[in-house]
Amino acid sequence: MPLTMPTAADITVDPLKLPEPVDLRALFEREAPLELEIGSHKGTFLVRRAKEHPELNFIGIEWANKYYQYAADRMARWGLTNVRMMRCDGRHFIIHQVADACIDALHIYHPDPWPKKRHHKRRLIQPEFMDAALRIMKPNARLSIQTDHAGYFEHMQEVILPRTDLQQVDFVDEAYGTVGDDIKTNFEIKYEREGRTFYRFAFRKR
Ligand SMILES: C[S@@+](CC[C@H](N)C(=O)[O-])C[C@H]1O[C@@H](n2cnc3c(N)ncnc32)[C@H](O)[C@@H]1O
Repeated sequence: MPLTMPTAADITVDPLKLPEPVDLRALFEREAPLELEIGSHKGTFLVRRAKEHPELNFIGIEWANKYYQYAADRMARWGLTNVRMMRCDGRHFIIHQVADACIDALHIYHPDPWPKKRHHKRRLIQPEFMDAALRIMKPNARLSIQTDHAGYFEHMQEVILPRTDLQQVDFVDEAYGTVGDDIKTNFEIKYEREGRTFYRFAFRKR
């Protein structure tokens, strides 16, 4: 436990106030490997990761103000000093604002599937986003993705598998937060109770 407990204000970062390009490592006072999650929702995954790995730094990006605040409050209550929350569109932020080669892992769990065909262009996993995601990943950085939507997974496979700058690796890797077969995000826990099938894969940047 830190000597002074952090408040939610210590955890939240306003992306509009950061000098560009944004080197995400500069959001922490110490140097440590950095993991980024897009769509953190209530912060369940990041709270567990940050508690279990005080030697690592973590950033969560969440678009919905209600969940962003909820996650930051939770992190403050746990006294976590190795995690930050940002409220923004992770897609736009990564494509236009983040500096090259500054993260060691990117976590994307149950991104909104936008099931209607006319909304498919709103999906996060698209070639332009993947180019930017690879750009901000350090060499050997890990990307892990899970969805419960078969159609979206098919689309992800079409976008990601032809890339020669990524090498597929085991999804299960406790070093990156997989507990057995699970990652224990809010949606995973909810959908597991409903008996849904999960589709997942993980990669290393070559
Ligand atoms: C279906 S939920 C999954 C949440 C969490 N990853 C989980 O597995 O429980 C998707 C979350 O991503 C957020 N989100 C959707 N698009 C986003 C974007 N472009 N940038 C940041 N957050 C986004 C939503 O507000 C929502 O909280």
